[in-house]
Amino acid sequence: MRILIPEEEVQRRVRSLARKISRDFAGKELLLVGILKGSFIFLADLARRMSIPVKVDFIRLASYGARTQSSGKVEITKDLETSVRGKDVLIVEDIIDTGVTLNYLFRRLRARRPRSLRTVALLDKRGRRKVPFQVDYVGFTIDNHFVVGYGLDCNEEYRNLSGIYAVK
Ligand code: IMP
Ligand code: MG
Repeated sequence: MRILIPEEEVQRRVRSLARKISRDFAGKELLLVGILKGSFIFLADLARRMSIPVKVDFIRLASYGARTQSSGKVEITKDLETSVRGKDVLIVEDIIDTGVTLNYLFRRLRARRPRSLRTVALLDKRGRRKVPFQVDYVGFTIDNHFVVGYGLDCNEEYRNLSGIYAVK
């Protein structure tokens, strides 16, 4: 493994994302919807840096296919406990790759009629999209590496690393 984004750089970027999002939603309350499990550390840090009131809920998705690649099939295996209807909602994702996961969840949540629905992803492998999806807030655009750390795993390992590493 080699370090791709050190802890300090991740923290700096998360702070600046939180500032930007807080400004964009000034005067409102935001429901952060974290996609389990990969987003749990990013969401925890982002939430603590926000200067507007936030609520937090989680959703668990399963995708089928090869271990290090998403296939086309996604389903909700643990749904939200909160209604998103009429709320300002921000989907919090660790990484967008093919776009299949966010595209699927965006459509499912939009059908529940939130007042607004936006997305934030810490990492964006832009060159890998299979379905077009534009994330509203992106931390870092990265090349096509498999990455771990800061919530991201390889077979459930390395989620607790503070920086982001590329697996060789
Ligand atoms: P997508 O549906 O292809 O956009 O993939 C998104 C999901 O695949 C993320 O939520 C991650 O769980 C997983 N994923 C994609 N790339 C990586 C990676 O480099 N490391 C760890 N997980 C990844
Ligand atoms: Mg994920």
